[in-house]
Amino acid sequence: MTEEDVYGAIGEEGFTRLIHAFYAQVPGDPILGPMYPQDDLAGAEERLRDFPIGRFGGPQRYIERRGHPRLRMRHMPFAIDEAARNRWVRLMDRALEEARFPDEVTTLLREFFHGVATFMINK
Ligand code: HEM
Repeated sequence: MTEEDVYGAIGEEGFTRLIHAFYAQVPGDPILGPMYPQDDLAGAEERLRDFPIGRFGGPQRYIERRGHPRLRMRHMPFAIDEAARNRWVRLMDRALEEARFPDEVTTLLREFFHGVATFMINK
């Protein structure tokens, strides 16, 4: 299985479930909660869902709606140190566990999220 096969394997439903499980943990998290827009968590959820969907073989909605990702730049307003990176990764790992995708899918997604998260450290 390659990255392009993931969308075919888990579909829109799989990504929706994963990102929902991630965001369900955000408001109550002492590090991440205050960083996210409390009045637009649904919008944030949609943005974080569309991005990996485009990357893993699904429709390019993220780019259509938001343009070039420039993720490091878009994260500059937030102070992301190693602790924040590790917390983000822990919440996503928990969401992946909850989602119970096939092992190959979980591995591809986990490696991707971990790598991008490390790249987002800006402090
Ligand atoms: C390392 C820890 C991270 C922190 C603390 C963090 C925090 C945030 C925050 C506070 C936002 C603004 C929410 C919004 O209104 O959209 C955001 C946006 C976003 N994040 Fe992260 N993030 C992290 C890692 C990641 C990773 C690993 C990815 C993808 C693999 C990612 C993808 C995105 C995307 C796609 C957006 C929306 C950007 C936009 O279109 O405006 N983030 N992030």
